[in-house]
Amino acid sequence: MADQENYSERTDQAHRLRQLVLQRDSDELHASGSTHVIAVTSGKGGVGKTFLAVNLSIALAARNHRVILFDMDMGLANADIVLGVQPNFTWNDVLKGRRSLDDIMVQGPGQIAFVPASSGIAHMADLSEFERYQLRLAMHQIECRYDVVILDCGAGISQNVVGFASSADTVLVTATPEPTAITDAYAMIKTFAVDPAGNIYNCSGSSSIGVLVNQAESRREGCETYERLAQVAARFLHLPVSDFGYILRDDHVSAAVRQRCPVILRYPRCSASTCLMAVAGKLAHELGQPESSKSLFYRVMNMFL
Ligand SMILES: Nc1ncnc2c1ncn2[C@@H]1O[C@H](COP(=O)(O)OP(=O)(O)OP(=O)(O)O)[C@@H](O)[C@H]1O
Ligand SMILES: [Mg+2]
Repeated sequence: MADQENYSERTDQAHRLRQLVLQRDSDELHASGSTHVIAVTSGKGGVGKTFLAVNLSIALAARNHRVILFDMDMGLANADIVLGVQPNFTWNDVLKGRRSLDDIMVQGPGQIAFVPASSGIAHMADLSEFERYQLRLAMHQIECRYDVVILDCGAGISQNVVGFASSADTVLVTATPEPTAITDAYAMIKTFAVDPAGNIYNCSGSSSIGVLVNQAESRREGCETYERLAQVAARFLHLPVSDFGYILRDDHVSAAVRQRCPVILRYPRCSASTCLMAVAGKLAHELGQPESSKSLFYRVMNMFL
């Protein structure tokens, strides 16, 4: 019962966010911007979001995109460990008004910029007016300096995650072939398609949603997992879900984490890295598409409405 209430609260938030974003499309706030935002989300925790966000950032940078990676997992931030960087400051310092985004931003490996978060700070949903203002201001500062913003989101469908994902042009929903991960990925996708009363509403103009299957044992398992999710989304939500491919399960991934070096740099020829390059190719194709002209500033303004 509590779960049901929580779920309806979340879909309510997602619905409200979408309505507001659509409603404001014609406002003058709808200033032009060219930064493409990709949110890496899941549903279930531990399915590989951080691994994907870090390595896809580097793969896109290798294709000459100017990429900035934001650790948005305010509860359990750890992208800095996977990247092998030791930041002195975090989002927390920006939100408190002690530092600017430029102060906390660090150069990551593979030509990416990285904005670190710290573990255990208050959830974004609890931010004060002042902190929200700081976040908007910080985002505004980096507008136009990057082609791609990648958000490494936390697990689940909290207000935080739904807010960040709703601000993105592309939502990458990560799932492993395990039934629990598939169920949770579907719950994440559902927040984009169902209003508080459980009605399916028109998603035109919303972010493009895609599935990325991680830790597949084979190409076939990757494709079947995508098909399963795409079919239920089409049948029950009437929502098209793109296929962003699959990443094979590969022991080089955890070996690279232990060495605090992104796998795509440490083991560029391993099977996981080869899959990552293929996914980056699909994303690059998406980046080439005409994108929404919402400025990053505009999107952040709507994250918490
Ligand atoms: N393709 C893969 N092959 C083998 N191991 C993998 C693969 N992808 C991820 N892993 C391992 O799975 C674990 C979880 O990965 P990661 O931390 O990226 O997940 P997450 O979704 O970000 O977790 P959280 O929900 O806690 O943020 C890590 O130990 C990582 O090394
Ligand atoms: Mg993570």
